[in-house]
Amino acid sequence: MKRTNLLSVFILINIFSLSAQHHRQQYVPDPDTLVQQKLEEWQDLKFGLLMHWGTYSQWGIVESWSICPEDYGWCERKKGEHPDNYFEYVKEYENLKTTFNPVDFDPDRWAKAAKDAGMRYVVFTTKHHDGFCMFDSKYTDYKITDKGCPFHTNPKANIAKEIFSSFRKEGLWTGAYFSKPDWHCDDYWWSYFPPKDRNVNYDPAAYPEKWEKYVRFTHNQILELMTEYGKMDILWLDGGWVRKKDSTQIAGYYENFSKNPGTGFTKTTMVNQDIRMDELVKKVREKQPGLIVVDRAVPGKNQNYLTPENRVPEKALPYPWESCIIAGGGWSWTPGAKYMSPRKLVHLLADIVSKGGNLLLNIAPGPDGQWDDSAYKMLSAMGDWMKINGEAIYETRAVEPYKEGQVCITEKKDGTLYLIYLAEKDETKMPEVIGLSALYPEKGAKATLLGTGKDLNWKRTGNGFEVSIPEKLRNNPPCDYAWVIKIEKR
Ligand code: GLC
Repeated sequence: MKRTNLLSVFILINIFSLSAQHHRQQYVPDPDTLVQQKLEEWQDLKFGLLMHWGTYSQWGIVESWSICPEDYGWCERKKGEHPDNYFEYVKEYENLKTTFNPVDFDPDRWAKAAKDAGMRYVVFTTKHHDGFCMFDSKYTDYKITDKGCPFHTNPKANIAKEIFSSFRKEGLWTGAYFSKPDWHCDDYWWSYFPPKDRNVNYDPAAYPEKWEKYVRFTHNQILELMTEYGKMDILWLDGGWVRKKDSTQIAGYYENFSKNPGTGFTKTTMVNQDIRMDELVKKVREKQPGLIVVDRAVPGKNQNYLTPENRVPEKALPYPWESCIIAGGGWSWTPGAKYMSPRKLVHLLADIVSKGGNLLLNIAPGPDGQWDDSAYKMLSAMGDWMKINGEAIYETRAVEPYKEGQVCITEKKDGTLYLIYLAEKDETKMPEVIGLSALYPEKGAKATLLGTGKDLNWKRTGNGFEVSIPEKLRNNPPCDYAWVIKIEKR
């Protein structure tokens, strides 16, 4: 072999082993057996609700980001009297606390709508990056229950508590979104220096006492949420740049930075922001045994599941995962948001579930404390579909080939198979046959169309099979958007 070939083989081998390593590092199972068991149950739930809500909702802007001095579209400052002056803007932004009064807040109504749509858990922004607490933290006055916020006199002032208890009453699991970075806290963005970007604005190694205060503050707030808010199922931690970085990682960042300037990395991105996750997780699990912890985007055992954002992976992933996806507008409320059509939502859920994931659908409450009417409409149509077809969604697992053409496949633990046929927009009549080319049921298996209970004929074709839909049924499908064939062993 010539030298050049040897070299390319060597490079190839390295690329392969690096990508295999990368894949392995992406998910590290949590050794806690209670957590593993809970994750298994969580994977049965399939469909959850995410809500981003805070004082920013009054301006209808991107949550928190406009106070972050980075030059991205989502950080642009367009509201208030002084969008052209960063420091004045931040004052006005933080002043939104004094006008936040969502008097129409009715979490029971949300919980009922979510439940009727087939959602089985909720994740709520108890604190986003801007640091405003939607719960009654005793470690800050930048919070909904502070006397400087008009809503503090409302009987439902402790918003997070009200949301968790309303959803729990409807039988949903509860999760707390919590941002590890806090841009209001003087121990994260120290007023001595101006903030430079999303990161801590001083070097924790140079000011260890200050950083220690920040670590304690963060642990204390999370512990409040995990002790005073009833049974919690998920701790969903955002702001993955707040993490422990060892010297090799930091060296790697520097190298990457010098080769690719302009990637958004800055000096502070690379500093070690060790929030002492292992210690925190140990403390919170003493209060909430088996708690699922999602230290988003931080490889390691404290990221119990992965959270692709606003996208669906190409294939099934070999570990627990959840796509969080915006239903309309942005993560936080924007005026005139257009919501996903029920067809798109049904197809999205089927696609995700056939790949073994969960869908966490984001709906943003408005400044008055209400959801848009179109959000309710979308959920109600979703509920109609789920009432008929939910059994093809819940408690299923991914089965190869996951999807073929218009058909998504799911499987129950007992081997019952579901073919979810995603109908096109103008497809109101069911196809003559629905089948697969490389998978077939056992002889004598029973095929039915969900929502009709009628037995259907099927036959083997090559390596696959097809189910025939009689003409009468074809013209009268049991529901809109997608039709489900159930295949059971007899
Ligand atoms: C993005 C946004 C952040 C939001 C999150 C939800 O990372 O920047 O504000 O909370 O998505 O997944």
